[in-house]
Amino acid sequence: MRILVTGGAGFIGSNFVRLELARHDDEVVVLDKLTYAGNPANLREFEQNPRYSFILGDIADAEVVATAMDGIDAVVNFAAESHVDRSIIDPGAFITTDVQGVYILLEAARRQQIERFLHVSTDEVYGEVPNGSVSEDAPLRPRSPYAASKAGGDLLVYAYFVTYGLPTLVSRGSNTFGPYQYPEKLIPVMITEALDGRSVPVYGRGQQVRDWLAVEDHCSAIDHILRHGAVGEAYNVGGGNEYQNLDVVERILDALGRPRSLISYVPDRPGHDIRYSVDSTKLFQLGWMRAHTFDEALDATVRWYVENDGWWRPLKEDRDYRAYFQRNYEARGEQGPGARGQGLGLTKPRLPTPDPRPPGGRSWP
Ligand code: NAD
Ligand code: DAU
Repeated sequence: MRILVTGGAGFIGSNFVRLELARHDDEVVVLDKLTYAGNPANLREFEQNPRYSFILGDIADAEVVATAMDGIDAVVNFAAESHVDRSIIDPGAFITTDVQGVYILLEAARRQQIERFLHVSTDEVYGEVPNGSVSEDAPLRPRSPYAASKAGGDLLVYAYFVTYGLPTLVSRGSNTFGPYQYPEKLIPVMITEALDGRSVPVYGRGQQVRDWLAVEDHCSAIDHILRHGAVGEAYNVGGGNEYQNLDVVERILDALGRPRSLISYVPDRPGHDIRYSVDSTKLFQLGWMRAHTFDEALDATVRWYVENDGWWRPLKEDRDYRAYFQRNYEARGEQGPGARGQGLGLTKPRLPTPDPRPPGGRSWP
């Protein structure tokens, strides 16, 4: 097979390229715009591999996409704006890439008669799940601009299956963590800030629940769905590791030998989803199994960041990163109780801020 991996220079995409080249004899072509989250260093080890090639380009650019899809058998679409906080600050790019970009890919795939089109979606399309777990036929009730744009792409993919018979597949993965994750998501922010002795910003009271999935397991699930999934279907990919954010942060601090007094409670994310939880039975029935426990994968991730500061320090020193970090966190700090500290304004531990959410969360609409 010749597989087009869009967004292959990002966190999950680059781990997927690693898995594909190691596990199969297929050719992999990466198409990536190299936004702030795309990093050529994530793919450097494959540069000499004759089964790997890279195209710099935007999935929302029909011309580039048509060229990239020439001779391709299967598409796996990771390309996306992926961070909820950024979508709250500035949603525009999310609509362009996560909706319009998916449409451009689908149109090209339909013209080229692609054999498999796997769209990497997210468990966030279901919205928050205060109790129980949702299966694939649950309604989509996204609540952030990121989740809504991902839901738009997800539904377009299904429409192309129904309307044009495009052989599509959708994966809806849960919160993923591991090596090469850009330091804007919870786990890498906590590890890298704590490593430098700075305080770690926990939104609200840290009681939101996420279901953590090791990146190697997420990639093996996508590989399994690509090869064994039934076209037209969506598959949940849960980690089976539901923890409150505060638990995760405390585990990281313990693993690093840093004091829990580094925790700084900052004002909450607007519209913060209290919990996600997907039922992955359908994927288990397809024959997929996880290979990693949370504790083992978290320890390995912490070790990776400790040993690879040459990978993340340049990212954190970048001017745009610092501007984003200040915009996202310092604004919170200024509203919160307590004095602003040094650096990014988060060095002093603060008391929990009251959670504005009514008990049990709020249902939609
Ligand atoms: P990421 O932000 O690390 O990487 C995204 C990649 O897409 C980057 O390489 C970026 O350069 C590229 N990209 C962005 N816009 C593009 C465009 N217009 N054209 C071409 N390339 C573009 O994201 P990630 O965490 O690796 O997530 C990958 C996919 O998995 C996303 O679709 C995301 O919605 C989904 N997902 C992520 C998680 C998670 O916890 N990280 C969980 C479930 C699903
Ligand atoms: O559920 C899958 C989704 O998981 C993916 O689709 C998204 O691409 C991915 O970014 C992730 O979304 P979240 O918003 O859940 O992930 P994030 O790492 O940003 O936050 C995880 C939790 O930690 C969330 O409840 C917010 C909280 N948090 C996050 C950051 C960055 C903090 O308390 N402090 C922080 O600094």
